[in-house]
Amino acid sequence: MTSITNKNHTKVLLVGDGAVGSTFAYAMVLNGIANEIGITDIAKDKTKGDALDIADATPYSSPTKLYSAEYSDAKDADIVVITAGAPQKPGETRLDLVNKNLNILKTIVNPIVDSGFNGIFLVAANPVDILTYGTWKLSGFPKERVIGSGTSLDTARLRKFVGQELNVDPRSVHGYILGEHGDSEFAAWSHTTVGGLSIAELNATHPELTDQRLAELNDTVVNAAYDIINTKGATFYGVGTALARICQALLRDENTVLPLSVHMDGQYGVNDLYISSPTVVNRNGVVSVLEIPLSASEKEKMQSSAAQLRKVATDGFK
Ligand code: 2OP
Repeated sequence: MTSITNKNHTKVLLVGDGAVGSTFAYAMVLNGIANEIGITDIAKDKTKGDALDIADATPYSSPTKLYSAEYSDAKDADIVVITAGAPQKPGETRLDLVNKNLNILKTIVNPIVDSGFNGIFLVAANPVDILTYGTWKLSGFPKERVIGSGTSLDTARLRKFVGQELNVDPRSVHGYILGEHGDSEFAAWSHTTVGGLSIAELNATHPELTDQRLAELNDTVVNAAYDIINTKGATFYGVGTALARICQALLRDENTVLPLSVHMDGQYGVNDLYISSPTVVNRNGVVSVLEIPLSASEKEKMQSSAAQLRKVATDGFK
């Protein structure tokens, strides 16, 4: 077959082939999101095995080219997804990982930039807000092309739990977890809707949705990762699928609103920090950061989440 250059050809380079990375690659293939996925990791044999193993799924899903890659393969990639880093152990917070994972990040970003990479960095390793800020600083890329997965996963968890509570499809629940992807995150209940009804309006038919119940649901989301890590040791299906969905929005130029860790320029009174807010994204990365007019108590939560991250960012970048 003669080949013609396809300008729409899409390529993703994955850095970090642990449980999150390989699940992400698999989700990409199942959903037919990219034409090509290169997999890199210090564990070279694992990348070779995963490329072969996941490629076995292509006849039943999508014609994706998978291979064990080098950082130099980033040269013509559209997106570099970074999942490399130590995962949380039971009892550890995401912020506890900062020094270990910043050191790993430093060995990744420079060679990727040196390859001539000119696409979008999508960071998922934890603490994701700090590591996304680090990727932005180390790469010198415009802020629009450095994005963290942020609270995309936590927001999925919120929609799942609210959907279960009300017995509705989680896709019909619209709302966001904002702030740090971590212990200080919070549900923006003031702007959560189901079928267009606010929580206050839903209360008429669902009196069980008391403030106390909302606080419990919020805590269930905040603790969701711990609950999973304490049982099976790690979380990966949710984040792998969230990352694939973000790549889809970017590669297909969707102008989709997703809760992502993005650079703040005064939104919510926050400056020079990566933290999650609903964000419009397309082929060029961040188009705009939407600022939800939060209630007074939610504003305080956003401020304290930002303060928490700023403290770690300041310590981490000394
Ligand atoms: C999660 O929230 C651990 O950040 C990972 O599942």
